[in-house]
Amino acid sequence: MSALEAALAEAAGEVERTLDRLLRLPSEPHTRLFEAMRYATLGGGKRLRPFLVLESSGLFAVATSCALRVAAAVECVHCYSLVHDDLPAMDDDDLRRGQPTTHRAFDDATAILAGDGLLTLAFEILGDVETHADPAVRCGLVRALGRAAGAHGMVGGQMLDIIAEGQTFDIGEITRLQRLKTGELFAFSCIAGAILGKADDHSRHALQAYAHDMGLAFQIADDLLDVEGHEAEVGKSVRKDGTAGKATFVSILGVERAHAQARILVDQAIAHLDSFGARAENLRRVARFVVDRRA
Ligand code: IPE
Ligand code: IPE
Ligand code: MG
Ligand code: MG
Ligand code: MG
Repeated sequence: MSALEAALAEAAGEVERTLDRLLRLPSEPHTRLFEAMRYATLGGGKRLRPFLVLESSGLFAVATSCALRVAAAVECVHCYSLVHDDLPAMDDDDLRRGQPTTHRAFDDATAILAGDGLLTLAFEILGDVETHADPAVRCGLVRALGRAAGAHGMVGGQMLDIIAEGQTFDIGEITRLQRLKTGELFAFSCIAGAILGKADDHSRHALQAYAHDMGLAFQIADDLLDVEGHEAEVGKSVRKDGTAGKATFVSILGVERAHAQARILVDQAIAHLDSFGARAENLRRVARFVVDRRA
């Protein structure tokens, strides 16, 4: 196992335990909702966004217990976005993380509500004094995640993704779409450590620039996996983007140039980390992993 694989596995284990605690099953008449929230969140995924929160927090000596709660919050938002992305009205997918999608395992209405429950839980976690003693830090986290997840971020990107179906987007338009759809949540994950650690502007900007390039590389890799990957390995349906007529990096650049562009972006991302020295080694490693991954 490589150093990165070991670090990713350790982080994933800690995040799983934190999410398990935060998503306890109450004995209420609507237990089914909590079951669906747990189903959508626990036991799967690469946990890349939580890993970025933990690693960026490590740069500024943030307490692990605080970083883990923010890591869990961003994963709640991510999992909600996947539940809604898979709904019949959106990408209409049956497979996620190697399992039936939440609306398949439950039903559409429960999946919508489970997504709503996860999204709001994320902000409840960030607002809790256990996440940080300083209310200004908690407000900073709430504001940054709200911005990244909302209409100016991920939700806006999802809208552009739908508008882009069957349209010809140029490379600038597709870059903006992907930056919103995927990049903003990655950027929040990298900035979270700087917010928790009250880092200086230089560090924040460096992490923002790293996240920007790495997030685009990640989405190019996701688009390539849709074209080149295998369902059993990727854990979700493949060849969907072309069938749906989605504008992606691959539909615009072609497979070869998309691979090349992803590698350029990873090198650029890594170059932004110079001022952090050896402490940022896992952030360098995960940027390379993001384009080499097969799932
Ligand atoms: C998939 O994200 C959705 C996109 C933003 C492209 P991930 O590839 O991080 O999904 P999991 O969390 O590992 O399942
Ligand atoms: C979804 O992008 C991104 C979000 C959920 C915000 P995709 O539709 O490409 O993700 P996959 O391929 O279904 O994981
Ligand atoms: Mg989608
Ligand atoms: Mg999808
Ligand atoms: Mg995709």
